[in-house]
Amino acid sequence: MSVELHFNQKLSHASRGSSLFDCAEALGIKVPTSCRKQGKCKECLVEVVEGMELLSPPAPQEAHLKDNFRLSCSCRIDGDAGIVRCHTMRRGEMRIERHALELPVTHSTLKLEPAVTRAGSRIFLDGEEIDKSEGPIHGLAMDLGTTTVVLRLLNLETGEVIADSSFENPQRFGGSDVMARIHYDSGDGTKLLQRTLAGYLSHAIEEFPVDPQSIYELVVAGNSTMRDIFFRLNVYPIGQSPYRSITELEMADGLRNTTSLADNAKRLLLPINSKARVYGLPIISGHVGADAAACMLAMDIANEQRLVAIMDIGTNTELILGNRDRILAASCPAGPAFEGGRVSCGMPGLPGAIEKVRIQPNGSMTIRVIGDGAAEGICGSGLVDLLGELLRNGLMNGLGRFENGEERLVIDSQSDSEIYLSESDVNELAQAKGANVAGLRVVFNEYGIGFEDLDLFYLAGGFGRHLDIESSKRIGLIPDIQVSKIRQVGNAAIEGACIALLSKTKRAELESLVKRVVHCRLETDPNFFDYFVEGCQFKPLQSIESSAAQP
Ligand code: FES
Repeated sequence: MSVELHFNQKLSHASRGSSLFDCAEALGIKVPTSCRKQGKCKECLVEVVEGMELLSPPAPQEAHLKDNFRLSCSCRIDGDAGIVRCHTMRRGEMRIERHALELPVTHSTLKLEPAVTRAGSRIFLDGEEIDKSEGPIHGLAMDLGTTTVVLRLLNLETGEVIADSSFENPQRFGGSDVMARIHYDSGDGTKLLQRTLAGYLSHAIEEFPVDPQSIYELVVAGNSTMRDIFFRLNVYPIGQSPYRSITELEMADGLRNTTSLADNAKRLLLPINSKARVYGLPIISGHVGADAAACMLAMDIANEQRLVAIMDIGTNTELILGNRDRILAASCPAGPAFEGGRVSCGMPGLPGAIEKVRIQPNGSMTIRVIGDGAAEGICGSGLVDLLGELLRNGLMNGLGRFENGEERLVIDSQSDSEIYLSESDVNELAQAKGANVAGLRVVFNEYGIGFEDLDLFYLAGGFGRHLDIESSKRIGLIPDIQVSKIRQVGNAAIEGACIALLSKTKRAELESLVKRVVHCRLETDPNFFDYFVEGCQFKPLQSIESSAAQP
């Protein structure tokens, strides 16, 4: 008798008593660890998607884990038949957008002025000698997201990209959104979220094809909460009204003159050169973080004459609107639905995810799966496409109800388990969309313009890169503007972090730019709730005057 174990999409049969870690090793799956299965490092995380009842009860060393997360070295098969599905936080190659496209500035067109320089064998950081080395000198850029982490390694003397890496943020065991992480970190007191992430970063850095000791600077872009947790700061204030990072509060009290951060790599538990600096890009305000700041650098908004909007859709959607004369910004707490979270068959953009859906007039459905294998779930771009197609074919109404009266709609039944969309999934997606729409409405109203007044609408981020524009416009996820004004630029935040890594001038430009950005606090706008409710409906998003003029 054995349990059918699907581990990172690989199948095996596991008998009672085997640990998930041992099963992974037998399947050739690498599980992050620094303690060799002793239950001490807390890195061997797995997320159990199905069959939790066939596993041993959580051991004391797993007491810190929420939801369906387990430590694979402590968790054993405790049944004789059934199916268990689980995965590590570093499964396969995530379809995380590592590069950015069609940006006004990229690190490859930049004048190189890194903070780390050399004279012969002497290595300097901001002019102070920190090491001696004849070999190449390197720097790292990181986009630290709530859901995913992207790293890029660069040669600081040539600007060349040496390698990049990406993985799911292992801090998900502390909750899927920033508020849950703040709650977890504030109640934990041992900096476990930071330590776990540092363990994953260490493994990723050690896999790079260079000596980690040749890495002299790390530049971090990330939302305010992720950045501050990484720098081991107190994040409690950013979870409470008026939602300010401790760095903003200290700046208001005259204790610092910037919200950017600088720390020592060793203190942050990173295995790079012990003299290396870790620089956290400045945040804009509240939850509008260093990732939005990095996007501004990549879009060169400081020198932009045209009127542009930047929208990075994610668990926390960032919005920026303006040009070199005036800039507004907002953060929308959309939640993880468009990244596949809290949706029954949702999953990240990994092999096995449905990424495209088409429905024919006769009701038949065709799907495209990442990697062309069997479908295992549906990712964000697939969900947007599906909603757009259901709406276009009259199979779902604008309120998100299925017209056939059913509560769930089967998308694919060819795989071992049926993939479907339920009305409660649609509800989750509607609410995520509602938060984004409310943000767009508040920011554009504050600026005093309509959507059609924009010259360019940048859709940043990996999710935005893969969206079908027509489906996105049809359901009202993005404004209903001319397609020619929309640019899907990919991961602009990592590009911005690279620019800051390679150019002290650009870094200084950003330090002053963030101080000029006006933060629109959505929660204080009297119309926010009305906009949110309207935004939960699936219909094209037009300016208020235009939509009022519609028959
Ligand atoms: S391997 Fe370290 S806690 Fe499981």
